[in-house]
Amino acid sequence: MTDLHCKYFSDSGEPSLKVITYRNYGPPEVLKLEEWEIPIPKAKQIRIRIVKTAVNSGDWRVRKPDPQIARLYFGLFKPKNPVLGLSYSGVVDAIGEGVTAFQIGDRVLGSKGIKMGAYAEYTIANENSLITKLPEKMSFAEGAGISFGGLTAIDFINRCQIQNNQNIVIYGASSSVGSSAIQLAKHLGAHVTAVCSKANFDLVKSLGADETFDYESFVSETNKNLYDVFFECVGKTEIETNLMYLKKEGNLVLVGATFGQMFQALRLKLFKNLKIHFGPIEETLENLKYLVSLVNLGKYKVNIDRSYPLEEMIEAHRYVEAGHKKGNVVIDVTNES
Ligand SMILES: NC(=O)c1ccc[n+]([C@@H]2O[C@H](COP(=O)([O-])OP(=O)(O)OC[C@H]3O[C@@H](n4cnc5c(N)ncnc54)[C@H](OP(=O)(O)O)[C@@H]3O)[C@@H](O)[C@H]2O)c1
Repeated sequence: MTDLHCKYFSDSGEPSLKVITYRNYGPPEVLKLEEWEIPIPKAKQIRIRIVKTAVNSGDWRVRKPDPQIARLYFGLFKPKNPVLGLSYSGVVDAIGEGVTAFQIGDRVLGSKGIKMGAYAEYTIANENSLITKLPEKMSFAEGAGISFGGLTAIDFINRCQIQNNQNIVIYGASSSVGSSAIQLAKHLGAHVTAVCSKANFDLVKSLGADETFDYESFVSETNKNLYDVFFECVGKTEIETNLMYLKKEGNLVLVGATFGQMFQALRLKLFKNLKIHFGPIEETLENLKYLVSLVNLGKYKVNIDRSYPLEEMIEAHRYVEAGHKKGNVVIDVTNES
């Protein structure tokens, strides 16, 4: 365990849960271990004993926050909700009145969405929220790793209406979103060109990429006007350059667009009628169930880069914020697999 300090907020004698909080914005060291009372589910709610959660790029961005304008939603001076964590997997351990979709003992996976709160030993979810059963074939780690990159990739891929044999470039292909986009594009029959660090070529090929380039060779060796879709997962490229790689009527996806890029993209959409997709995604239960069904059929892999115990959340945040994870980083809240 590192410098995570434990504060006790549960002195009622009731059973308590461990939770990782951030009471202030800032570096990974703002993350602290606290103990809270275990919540009781209300009507139509279920309580999940979390087995795994994940550290996603969205978590460190909110923690800092980056961009600062995120304070308008998450809290101007300090976080309104002190618990990060979007995705999780676990076991239903209590149900409220009137719950019909789940039973105690069900293995589940879900996403807390932008409200977050999954860095804890227990969470409460409405039975009709973004939560579904974890198939026997899926591990808890895969369950926690699937939703962030998967739901982002599927939403943007759907916006591009990819057709059979179309050419798609996935830039930043080893990322959580990129590793998912490769597989979804392949399912739709696309020819996938993956751009990532050389060290990740084997990984992206194992996920279905037809061709690989590193960032430098892609710029020097690729012809212009070749692609139907340019799927940018990094946010560090120029929009005008990306557009040059596209055929006429091609789709540009800016998954990690900065605010400046969003304004530029909006102008280009409005005045030049270009197909540019950016902005927050819509997380849907339908998409989550679809991703899970693909894993169940052996047609989709959730790449787990590494895992950390809950007590090493600070290290996990440092690693993910460095920006070079391969797929997903999972937190072992318990050691079940
Ligand atoms: N629009 C939305 O709703 C939405 C939702 C989710 C995520 N996002 C955004 O989408 C982006 C990807 O998220 P993620 O979680 O998939 O990322 P991630 O897993 O943390 O991976 C980061 C990726 O960036 C690449 N990278 C880092 N520095 C680079 C550089 N200088 N040049 C080129 N590539 C570089 C890394 O590749 P190498 O290791 O090969 O360098 C890695 O593939 C983030 O910006 C995130 O904020 C947006």
